[in-house]
Amino acid sequence: MLSVDSRLDPLLKRPFSLHRFVSGDLQFLYRVVGKATSILKEKKPGDIMELIGPLGNGFPLNQAGKVNPVLVAGGMGIAPLVALAEKVAKQEPFFFYGARSADELLCLDELDSIGIVPVVSTDDGTAGRKGFVTELVDEFLTKHHSSDLYSIYACGPKPMLAALSGVAKKHKVKAYMALEESMACGVGACLGCVIKTVDGYKRVCKEGPVFSFDDIMW
Ligand SMILES: Cc1cc2nc3c(=O)[nH]c(=O)nc-3n(C[C@H](O)[C@H](O)[C@H](O)COP(=O)(O)OP(=O)(O)OC[C@H]3O[C@@H](n4cnc5c(N)ncnc54)[C@H](O)[C@@H]3O)c2cc1C
Ligand code: FES
Repeated sequence: MLSVDSRLDPLLKRPFSLHRFVSGDLQFLYRVVGKATSILKEKKPGDIMELIGPLGNGFPLNQAGKVNPVLVAGGMGIAPLVALAEKVAKQEPFFFYGARSADELLCLDELDSIGIVPVVSTDDGTAGRKGFVTELVDEFLTKHHSSDLYSIYACGPKPMLAALSGVAKKHKVKAYMALEESMACGVGACLGCVIKTVDGYKRVCKEGPVFSFDDIMW
């Protein structure tokens, strides 16, 4: 939870994923969408900001047996997945990446430096396959499927994650999804970020943001 300004406006800290740790630096990757991110864009080296973190959980990686990770990013959902790709690089991960258009595909050089060439889709067909990234994952699992060989790790817009959840269910593959909800406190106190799960309401900031796909009531 990052406070972009010491003044009262914007009052609330904003949630951001941990993008990468490089040479002792913590990196964020963000898209300018409103007030806080516009202020962030004007920051200069040496400016001081307050943050609380890390908060919440992460992707569960300690699974028994050989599992090939299938990473799926939609739009800014790429932010937490580059570090994950780096972490699981030895497990020969597959990487699927969907964006609205070619100019919104980020981090391709970073992925390349880890030895990953993502399978890409764009809504307008300006790069990779025209269509949704979930279709690519569905095709991939249809071709290569063996239920205990793959585990999906995904981050992106909720409609994409909901569709991916259907794909995971169809192929009986485990899938873990990092959700985005509006957050006020970020530490479990305000209940502003709750989602409905099979075990009742859960706070995305505290019990999440990563949930198993079959826990979420889409
Ligand atoms: C767990 C978590 C992790 C996140 N990680 C990242 C990250 O790594 N990088 C990143 O860029 N963002 C990330 N976000 C989203 C980020 O928190 C918001 O983009 C940010 O709070 C917007 O603040 P703002 O003041 O600039 O915009 P606001 O003034 O709060 O919003 C401006 C407008 O943009 C819309 N908006 C808000 N968020 C988004 C969004 N994500 N996409 C499109 N429109 C939006 C609002 O509905 C509103 O209409 C994450 C969110 C969560 C919950
Ligand atoms: S943001 Fe306050 S409980 Fe999650």
